[in-house]
Amino acid sequence: MTNSATAQRVSVLGLGAMGTALAKALLAGGHQVTVWNRTAAKAEALADAGAVAAATAEEALTASDLVILCLLDDASVREHVEPAAARLSGRTVVNLTTTTPEQARGLGRWAAEHDIALIDGGIMAVPAMIGTPGAFVLYSGAQAEFERYRQVLELFGKPEFVGADLGAAAMYDVSILGGMYAMFAAFQQGGLMVRSVGGSAARLAELMTPFLQAMATLLAADAVGIDMPEDFTQVQSDEFTAAAIDLIDKAAVESGNPTELFGVLRRTLTGL
Ligand SMILES: NC(=O)c1ccc[n+]([C@@H]2O[C@H](COP(=O)([O-])OP(=O)(O)OC[C@H]3O[C@@H](n4cnc5c(N)ncnc54)[C@H](OP(=O)(O)O)[C@@H]3O)[C@@H](O)[C@H]2O)c1
Repeated sequence: MTNSATAQRVSVLGLGAMGTALAKALLAGGHQVTVWNRTAAKAEALADAGAVAAATAEEALTASDLVILCLLDDASVREHVEPAAARLSGRTVVNLTTTTPEQARGLGRWAAEHDIALIDGGIMAVPAMIGTPGAFVLYSGAQAEFERYRQVLELFGKPEFVGADLGAAAMYDVSILGGMYAMFAAFQQGGLMVRSVGGSAARLAELMTPFLQAMATLLAADAVGIDMPEDFTQVQSDEFTAAAIDLIDKAAVESGNPTELFGVLRRTLTGL
């Protein structure tokens, strides 16, 4: 709980599943929270819990020095912030709406023209995780304002600042999600393959989970090969890796589940 000396006025626009979780975390942290949602009924429970429900987006945008946006996409953000540009001047906007890196930079160019400090964010959590130790949030952009509001942002999850380039948080965000989807795609493929030998995806999950957890610890060593290729000594040759992946591909065909996945993995990892 934040004491009254450090309590901030914070606005949250967008009270979907995620925005509601963010507003609740701010209220639990003792802040003075103003909320707005396009469908007004979603603000009622938060108002009962102590938030001020603004009648319009502009009212919410200008009620606080710190404004958190958790809308649907870049277009919905632009729709509501652009008409309020002049009155947002001098405030800090943290956009936790998922956008592409270039959309984040574009909003940054607009914000700079209007003297608005912009921080872009990528939430690495589902709503139920907000405020729990497993949650972290990526931030990029206005670093001084990030530091100024760090204690407020800590209420959502561990804040991780990844660069002054406004596109950085979104780029790290999608890169992490790319890793997740690659893992799920390979698991889905493997599940079909083991079923062809009378096995089950459930048994595969049991065996694959600890193996992948161990493999994930190797990412940091692998990073040297990408960040500083001149200092990197490759443990396995590209030819070895390509042959190993080809063998998996052949097994997929034998199982009756041919896929493009392993060809893509081979080309990505080895260039062969
Ligand atoms: N949920 C997650 O696990 C998760 C994780 C990381 C990041 N995020 C990101 O957080 C953002 C919100 O996600 P969510 O899970 O809260 O989604 P959601 O439950 O579907 O809520 C979407 C929110 O956007 C509002 N909205 C949509 N179009 C709008 C417009 N044109 N003008 C004003 N408001 C508009 C909706 O208002 P109405 O209620 O009026 O429809 C609602 O408040 C998204 O960018 C999402 O990618 C979500």
